[in-house]
Amino acid sequence: MKPSSAPGDLVVPHSVAVIMDGNGRWAKQAGLERIRGHERGIDAVRTTVTECAKLGVQALVLYAFSEENWQRPAREVNLLFGLLKKFLRDERGTLMDNRVRLLHSGRRERLAKDVLDLLDETIALTVQNTGMRLSLAISYGGRQEIVDATRALALRVQRGELQPAAIDEAAIHAHLYHPELPDPDLLIRTAGEQRISNFLLWQVSYAEIHVADVCWPDFRAEHLRAAFADYGRRVRKFGKVP
Ligand code: FPP
Repeated sequence: MKPSSAPGDLVVPHSVAVIMDGNGRWAKQAGLERIRGHERGIDAVRTTVTECAKLGVQALVLYAFSEENWQRPAREVNLLFGLLKKFLRDERGTLMDNRVRLLHSGRRERLAKDVLDLLDETIALTVQNTGMRLSLAISYGGRQEIVDATRALALRVQRGELQPAAIDEAAIHAHLYHPELPDPDLLIRTAGEQRISNFLLWQVSYAEIHVADVCWPDFRAEHLRAAFADYGRRVRKFGKVP
């Protein structure tokens, strides 16, 4: 599919994924405790969601809480989930105004009931929205997603519904958390780190990677536009000769 174009030299990707990194460093540089960085990160989430929706991105996945993040101090985990709940309560208007449909990528088992209730309510509220799909990756791991897909396939084999020889890329893809979401064209990571950190391992096979030097709380519309401009300069070959 051809990416859509926007004003200036921007090329808007169909699908974008973001590793929102550097909240802790931002807070440290400002002489504040880590959670203040996460708090300020909400503003960057709101800006990114609204800008992507306005520019015509069709799917956006934000890495909000990884499976590995459960190992952080309990206080930070609790405060992060407090922020997530606040976002799900306070930003419903933002989602509805921008016709954004919310999804969740990740495991549900370790999420508290109040978090699941708010997630499910917001997902249900936005289910008819026909604009951008926004998936929040919460309690998410790329390896865990592949493990979960493998288990689902193994069950189908056990039940006699599927022959092992029928397991191909399409079958694995069909058992990911959201097979309806297109693979990311562009993966953005903030705070200068050049790592995938167990994010969408299956889906990023051919994603272009843009690393922004700013910490996530400082990520603004201009940084998103710079990422799209950078994306527009890439030659995507998908392993072929162009
Ligand atoms: C990484 O920064 C960021 C996180 C682990 C959490 C991201 C969460 C938010 C932006 C707020 C809530 C999100 C939503 C979608 C409502 P880090 O803490 O690893 O930073 P550091 O590497 O500088 O320590």
